[in-house]
Amino acid sequence: MSKKLFIETLGCQMNARDTEHIIAELNAHNDYTTTDILEEADLIIINTCSVRERPVAKLFSELGQFKKVKKKDAKIGVCGCTASHLGRDIIKRAPYVDFVVGARNVSKISKAVETKGAVEIDINHDETAYAFSEYRKALYRASVNISLGCDKQCTYCIVPATRGEEISISPEFIINEIKKAVENGAKEIFLLGQNVNNYGKYFSNGNGAIVQEKKQKHNFTKLLQEISQVEGVERIRFTSPHPLHMDDEFIEEFVSNPKICKSIHAPLQSGSTKVLKDMKRGYTKEWFLKICEKIRALVPEVRITTDIIVGFPGETDEDFADTIDVIKKVKFDQIFNFKYSPRPNTQAEIMDNQIDDKIATKRLTEVIDLHKIHQSEQMQDNVGKTMKVFFEDLKSNGEIFGFSDNYCQVFVSGSEELLGQIRNVKIISNTRTSLKGKII
Ligand code: SAH
Ligand code: SF4
Ligand code: F3S
Repeated sequence: MSKKLFIETLGCQMNARDTEHIIAELNAHNDYTTTDILEEADLIIINTCSVRERPVAKLFSELGQFKKVKKKDAKIGVCGCTASHLGRDIIKRAPYVDFVVGARNVSKISKAVETKGAVEIDINHDETAYAFSEYRKALYRASVNISLGCDKQCTYCIVPATRGEEISISPEFIINEIKKAVENGAKEIFLLGQNVNNYGKYFSNGNGAIVQEKKQKHNFTKLLQEISQVEGVERIRFTSPHPLHMDDEFIEEFVSNPKICKSIHAPLQSGSTKVLKDMKRGYTKEWFLKICEKIRALVPEVRITTDIIVGFPGETDEDFADTIDVIKKVKFDQIFNFKYSPRPNTQAEIMDNQIDDKIATKRLTEVIDLHKIHQSEQMQDNVGKTMKVFFEDLKSNGEIFGFSDNYCQVFVSGSEELLGQIRNVKIISNTRTSLKGKII
């Protein structure tokens, strides 16, 4: 009988994909199958996130919990971004942890589980050509990594220190993975990277070195074109693009390619040009507004999502007013908002004008409240429209849901036959975050 693996995933979509790789590798090489029951697991893994302080604190409280309820001989492993940046210190603080495998070392998982005390956290490790074993949680939507790491140095961000230098996966490798996913039933491809639209700038030379392409032979736009020609690919999504790299060529492809879903993540972070400069984001308030205006003018049905940080060091009331101004002008369809959280070894951590937590909390609430108003208005506007919905999952109450091309979540009454199908749905009602409709 196979051994049981319990795995908990924190953090972003890249971590979710890493978890799929971990499950696949441990299944193929170490004979583990997954379980949702902690108490019956022979191996417990937590795939961690480091982006803010809170998920890091969560790691140690979770580990304590695992220790309490686990089977006597069950092993515990820590993977992901906190593994990358705390490394051996995790075992020092929680000596019952058996191994630590960082975010860029997933290919070493099979060996690490068999090696008590293993710590694999080399952030320069090149996994771009590693053929992971196959496993996908969702049948119809396949996440596919297109690059690892990040070449930006946003002053608040720990990711470059946990996922390493940016490196693109070869287009042949990506296309091959997409073909396999399509053969296994995927219709929607979700491209992943910290900086997807910088694709093609750096590749591996195969000997562990990263080479910067002087004359760029490949870029994100070209990759999108190639992927949309793969037979069976019906929809393409991607995250995260960087506003700085949203050039005209990219916008034109986004607008005109019918396979590219009309929803885009445009991480603003701050509306103040001064704060953006302190964050080293590389664009201004005006640049950001121009891009969003352009996209909205060319694709009226587009949904634009964003990330916003409030309370960055030195953020004045005027700076925050600029953020509110951008929110009012762009009317984002979804905002992921965060209070600035100082991270170890980042440039912002040592800035001397840190913002009082009370002020940051007040600003966060203001963003949330304003966004709620926009969300309600925008979702209401969808009532009466017909949308093409790709059905992905069943609910226990006899409803089935999927997503429209522009990423509205849509519920209808229906059964399993709809799974994996794209159907026209007339929208009959809405909540602030989802829609209800009828198949027509
Ligand atoms: N590569 C992506 C971001 C990955 S991190 C991008 O540039 O869009 C996801 C989000 O977490 C960021 O967009 C940012 O809004 C937030 N974030 C990152 N570091 C943070 C910090 N120190 N404090 C608060 N939020 C942070
Ligand atoms: Fe972090 Fe900036 Fe890179 Fe995004 S682009 S991962 S925020 S350093
Ligand atoms: Fe977190 Fe690492 Fe993703 S820090 S957001 S899991 S890249």
